[in-house]
Amino acid sequence: MIFVNREREKALLGSAARSLILGNRRNTAFIGMRRIGKTMLLKKFLEEKKNAKDLLCVYIDLEDIATSPRIFSIYYIGEIIYALACRRGVYENKEKFFDPVNLLSISADIGKDALEISKKLFEDLNKVDVDYFSIVKFAFSVPQKIVESEGVKVMVILDEFQELRILNNFTAIGDVFSIFRAGIDGQKDVGYVASGSAISMMEKVFKESESSLFAQFKIEKIRPFTREDSILLASKIFRLENKEVNTVPLNLIYKFSYGHPAYVTYIANECCDLSNILSEETTADIVKNAFIQQVLSENGQIAMLCNYIYNISIERVQGKGSLKAILNVLAREEGITLSEISKKLNQKTGAVSNLLKSLLESDLVVRKDKRYYFRDPILRFWLSKKVLNLDVDYDIDFSVVKDLISELEEKYLRVSSELGKAKESELRHRIEDYLGVELGNYDKDGLEFDLFGEKNGVAHIVEIKWRNKATGYREVENFVDKVKRLPVKNVKLCFVSKSGFTKKAKELMEREGVVDISNEAVGG
Ligand SMILES: Nc1ncnc2c1ncn2[C@@H]1O[C@H](COP(=O)(O)OP(=O)(O)OP(=O)(O)O)[C@@H](O)[C@H]1O
Ligand SMILES: [Mg+2]
Repeated sequence: MIFVNREREKALLGSAARSLILGNRRNTAFIGMRRIGKTMLLKKFLEEKKNAKDLLCVYIDLEDIATSPRIFSIYYIGEIIYALACRRGVYENKEKFFDPVNLLSISADIGKDALEISKKLFEDLNKVDVDYFSIVKFAFSVPQKIVESEGVKVMVILDEFQELRILNNFTAIGDVFSIFRAGIDGQKDVGYVASGSAISMMEKVFKESESSLFAQFKIEKIRPFTREDSILLASKIFRLENKEVNTVPLNLIYKFSYGHPAYVTYIANECCDLSNILSEETTADIVKNAFIQQVLSENGQIAMLCNYIYNISIERVQGKGSLKAILNVLAREEGITLSEISKKLNQKTGAVSNLLKSLLESDLVVRKDKRYYFRDPILRFWLSKKVLNLDVDYDIDFSVVKDLISELEEKYLRVSSELGKAKESELRHRIEDYLGVELGNYDKDGLEFDLFGEKNGVAHIVEIKWRNKATGYREVENFVDKVKRLPVKNVKLCFVSKSGFTKKAKELMEREGVVDISNEAVGG
């Protein structure tokens, strides 16, 4: 499976896990468009933590299970006990964990804790008057029980978190988010990661002051890839097919996909098909054709995805006719204001404003500086051609998303992981030569160091910050604090920073005896 970058998001998850292990529970929510790579990111993290001793991760996809309180509780508890069973080396067909009778019978082999939990679930489900409120509440309490019996921290990863809201349709439940909130309040050893694609709904749940989960999760947006990462992903796909593709078509794939990883994948795969069928190299023309095939032909995957997103987005919205009229206006001209839209429609701003609100809630449209845009430029293109039958011939406008991407690049100043790795090994060799010590990565007991090596009883520890921004006080302080938690006495601390240090950082380094070896590492 090809997996590209998401270094920042992986690091955030790693950091949340580390903090949890150290006793500082933090919850994180990832929010991003459909197919932007949320599940892949979570699965990658799970894989990395599969054998962690001090942490048990449980992945639960709420999409199919939050359909009724009964199904939800059975699956929620089943997934947790399944994860526990795997940790204890008890292997059974996973399906068995989702049947209360089977669960009860296999639990005896898993442990006393599993047995108690499945017994309670079984009994509660078989009461004459089933109390679903209590059962759901009990399900939310199960991770903490595992913490206590297994003596391990638990990280519960809830994919498609917004789907929990379906349970609010059941009168016994009331507000499922407040049951969840009450449940997690006392669980200081259980960390939660939520992920969801219903962007405005997720933001409501975590950001609005009336919501029971207000400010309980740190929100992280998952954004499209940078140009560099999109090209890397497409190149990896072509490499699998033994195809050499030069930068012009690769750049074009980025332009047409605006870095949406699923679109990059679909277009690159389509290019492979076309170039095989035509026995031609993958040229810019092939990319253009592939894009058109993908977006406009009936069976194009992008077309199917747009169709799906469009239908579920407007499904909930009242007054679909008027809504289409607004989309029609925006498909012709984006980036216009409420009054401009109203004028074009010859309608009062009040009515249009309400419709725009629905469109914002449906995630089809975004507002930036009081101007309205499609969230997804490809969906705009598809909608114009396939639903609205507009005969406009416009170059796809990526300006809004481009903004998001450059914002991302500026904010996190990251380099691609591939580049980072090559650079890292180059730096490592130079630092090894300079210090005369063999160095490797260090990742033990929740502590990670970029480079670590021992010589004559002295631990040589090196921190590297390879960004276009001076390393600050906080980063040096973090490094020094981390070192203090190491069970070693004699240390030599070195720091490499691509863009130098701030004055305060330098002062702290002097006080703490951290040596700046950036010049030696770069070899200039
Ligand atoms: N980091 C990545 N590296 C390579 N490919 C990726 C990456 N992220 C996403 N993709 C591509 O995009 C597709 C969609 O990813 P994924 O299923 O993780 O998205 P999602 O955000 O969970 O979508 P949904 O909202 O539909 O649940 C993947 O099947 C893969 O082809
Ligand atoms: Mg997903």
